[in-house]
Amino acid sequence: MHFSSIYLFSFIILNFVPTILSFGPLSSHFVEWLKSNHYDHYDFSRLDYGINGSFGGKIDEHDQIERTPIIFFHGNSDAALTTNPPMLNGFVEHLTYYTNKGYKLSELYSTSWQDNDMKKAAIRTHDCETIQRLRAFMNAVLGYTQALKISVVSHSMGVTLARKVIKGGRIEEGTTEKTCDIGPSLADRVEVHVAISGGNQGLCTCHGLSESNQYPTCNSKNGFWAGDRCNENTDCKQYPLEEDCTQRDYSLYLKDLNNGEPEGEFVFSLWSKADELVKAGCWSWGQPTCLVPGSHGKMIYDGLSHIETRDLTPIDVYSILTEKRIPIKVKHEL
Ligand SMILES: *[C@@H]1O[C@H](CO)[C@@H](O)[C@H](O)[C@H]1NC(C)=O
Repeated sequence: MHFSSIYLFSFIILNFVPTILSFGPLSSHFVEWLKSNHYDHYDFSRLDYGINGSFGGKIDEHDQIERTPIIFFHGNSDAALTTNPPMLNGFVEHLTYYTNKGYKLSELYSTSWQDNDMKKAAIRTHDCETIQRLRAFMNAVLGYTQALKISVVSHSMGVTLARKVIKGGRIEEGTTEKTCDIGPSLADRVEVHVAISGGNQGLCTCHGLSESNQYPTCNSKNGFWAGDRCNENTDCKQYPLEEDCTQRDYSLYLKDLNNGEPEGEFVFSLWSKADELVKAGCWSWGQPTCLVPGSHGKMIYDGLSHIETRDLTPIDVYSILTEKRIPIKVKHEL
């Protein structure tokens, strides 16, 4: 091979191979910072998932952060990036889009929580250990980036975890006697929270399961229990209800989240009427459970599945994060 074609060949390799999707794990610059700031025992890198258990961090000290850093909170059984596609795909579609739009990995952060065994979905709750760890991650990102505010993108159970991480306060675990206080509110450090397909008022699928040993995720303290009746109404999914009612008896953890100030300067809720996991068009006792109370705007899709509300929304979520309002467009091609 002629020298110049070898040169050209290696030029192509060097310039194109590294752009093949590889967003994770945390950069070594961030990992070093975490070590020197006593965060290493939290295992934010999650190398048990290879390169896909986490992302974020500067390349080196010259890497300047220009945008509001974003922290991503994935849902139950998922991970930061792809571990078992198409269901367990993490935020790879969001990262692909945002980095194409100019975001750097020093402006995009996530760590995986718990594990990705879907058979264990029913036992995962909003527990102290998970929330304290995710809160430590948020504090670490704030400290590392020196950002006044960060933004948050959350999906599914990540919504109700992220809200607590930001809100702070007490957690009472339903399946143990454990309680904890995670500290003061961090709401003034959050610019925008885009909450996708969360179960903010509980899940109708938890009907009758608040005490079930098989479904701790439905428990009435820190689970998704939506209540078993609402005045005379007995069908959580019914909409409209036979009779107006306000649900007062549902998960203590969720009630606590919903009774207070929004967790951020701007909060937006996104969901789909066709969500097969939250079910019933997201209604729970006549209320949209996917709506974070006090949201500054909402976006409701017609035909997206639960995972599609994560994978097919990067354009809309990016627009909301940067414009701080719901994009002006009505039609969604599905
Ligand atoms: C990591 O994610 C990429 C892109 O989604 C995927 O192609 C790859 O197989 C994943 N690697 C592992 C170890 O799961």
